Amino acid sequence: MEGEVFYPSQDAIANSYVRDWEALAESARKNLQGFWAERASELFWFKKWDKVLDDSNKPFYRWFDGGKVNIAYNCVDVHLQTFRKNKLALIWEAEDGKSERTFSYYALNREVCRMANIIKAMGIEKGDRVTIYMGRIPEIVFAMLACAKIGAIHSVIFGGFSVDALHERISDSESKLIITCDGSMQNGKLVELKRIVDESLRHCPTVENVIVVKRTGHEIPMEGGRDHWFHDLCALPIANGKCSTEVMDAEDPLFILYTSGSTGKPKAILHTHGGYMVGTYATLKYVFDVNDEDRFWCTADPGWITGHSYLVYGPFLNGATVFMFEGGPSYPYPNRWWQLIERFGITIFYTAPTAIRALMRFGEAWPNKHDLSSLRLLGSVGEPINPEAWKWFHHVIGKDRCPIMDTWWQTETGAFMITPTPVVPLKPGSGTRPFFGQEAEIVDEEGNPVPDGQEGFLLLKNPWPSMMRTIYKDPDRYIETYWKKYPGKYMTGDSARRDKDGYYWIIGRVDDVIKVSGHRLGTAEVESALITHPAVAESAAIGLPHEVKGQAIYCIVQLKPGFAPGEDLGEELRQHVAHHLGPIARPEEVSFIDKLPKTRSGKIMRRVLKARAQGLPEGDLSTLEE
Ligand code: WT7
Repeated sequence: MEGEVFYPSQDAIANSYVRDWEALAESARKNLQGFWAERASELFWFKKWDKVLDDSNKPFYRWFDGGKVNIAYNCVDVHLQTFRKNKLALIWEAEDGKSERTFSYYALNREVCRMANIIKAMGIEKGDRVTIYMGRIPEIVFAMLACAKIGAIHSVIFGGFSVDALHERISDSESKLIITCDGSMQNGKLVELKRIVDESLRHCPTVENVIVVKRTGHEIPMEGGRDHWFHDLCALPIANGKCSTEVMDAEDPLFILYTSGSTGKPKAILHTHGGYMVGTYATLKYVFDVNDEDRFWCTADPGWITGHSYLVYGPFLNGATVFMFEGGPSYPYPNRWWQLIERFGITIFYTAPTAIRALMRFGEAWPNKHDLSSLRLLGSVGEPINPEAWKWFHHVIGKDRCPIMDTWWQTETGAFMITPTPVVPLKPGSGTRPFFGQEAEIVDEEGNPVPDGQEGFLLLKNPWPSMMRTIYKDPDRYIETYWKKYPGKYMTGDSARRDKDGYYWIIGRVDDVIKVSGHRLGTAEVESALITHPAVAESAAIGLPHEVKGQAIYCIVQLKPGFAPGEDLGEELRQHVAHHLGPIARPEEVSFIDKLPKTRSGKIMRRVLKARAQGLPEGDLSTLEE
């Protein structure tokens, strides 16, 4: 094999679910539907499917059609009939370390039923949308599973988004109910989630009720008739007792999750009960090799797809013990995560390159203070991991004995698509090869495959169970965005190259999506936030390389007549974006320009701005307006 290769240990191979990667890959290639049917059979169905894959109406693929199922039942109820009833399902620790809560599968069921009873009492029925906007506390997990249990469609919005982003997503989903908390703690600072909800609800007529979980205990306004404290609801008789599980069609929606694309309006990616369940279950099992002795920690927030698939659904489907931490990696000190790994005996640790790079900067002394010997597998997700960070993670955290699963996937794919398993030889910075049943292709503008070693557009060739089914309320955009340019193949929006060994190397997005610390944001969303400021005539947001964040947002602003550029205004505009869109979208820098470079048809030439900012050649300027 070419380049630097890390081979799996004999131990890793002996303990892995898939010992012979090539053989399973080959059998899945020969019989895609058979492979997935077998995975699906490991789960519980109220009624078995009639057909594994229905591709009669491409690209609206259907999986396990005719099957009756509920993902929440498979996450919780099925384990109550086994020894797992008394096994820990969830261990949670507060940011300040002052409280720790644990839930067995038995207790998890009680919490989910209670939340489900309350949601039902609010008039929510199968198919209704419920927006969840909370910090990383156990109740967010209960809320998601409770919605799934009663057949409501959850729409989780990351707590780092703010007023306008929240408003837009609540309106688009026409949610009747919001589940939130008074506030959340981030690096010792209070984030006023409930106040942000109040502000964004001023023009959301569909919302009838808001359930508020008490987390921080600070003073917040409660609107009579609309807002209800969760603990008050829990005290009512309606909250008690079992809650029956809604029997769902495999293709019934489970959730929508908003993600950024090329235009200003975020897309509501829709996933279903059956296929998403099979996909997250099987990928987590094979890639992270989860078994009953494990304590699995995925550091992602439930507000992103990684949290949905691998903090909540995937691990519970596998009956795993999940660890969830409210805070971030370096508060109060940069050993916070290492301390938690030691204290809770974490065996599998799944995180993002940006966090690894940030922690690397503090030096080895911090992790070396802790016993990390419980770890056996590591994972990385969200953006390409640079080989330097990979090797640090492997050596300093994994002590050269824990393989790193660099998992490439997207909100749209629901589950891992290009990823190693523990028996695959690793190359730092490559996600290795497509998961069983998947094939990838790298093509040029016209759709012709490019030779190995050359960069091109990354496509996926085969349908898979956890694929998005559509963009909620916008099926045309679904076709337009993912299937139109290269018919029959799924366009990922990433560029990549493949090496001689068939390993894939992701380069990055080729559209107007920026990955800031692994968070997916659209340039157009940032620009829409800027334009609401009275001084801004027009603006362009671009992503530039950043040592820790991977990419950071830079904004170039053209002011309205009568406004003068200056440092204060720049700072005000950064604040403005943070307030409206969210702190995660706060631009690194705002600079000013007399006139934005545009094509003759009036499109801003971001490519030129990007080149200028990096001191690179500006390329072909023939389409630039006079
Ligand atoms: C985009 C999807 C689903 C995981 C969380 C992000 C980038 C994701 C990797 C990786 C290189 C990666 C891609 C992709 N990405 N994982 N392992 N190596 N790039 O989901 O927010 O929908 O973003 O994240 O650019 O298209 P997302």
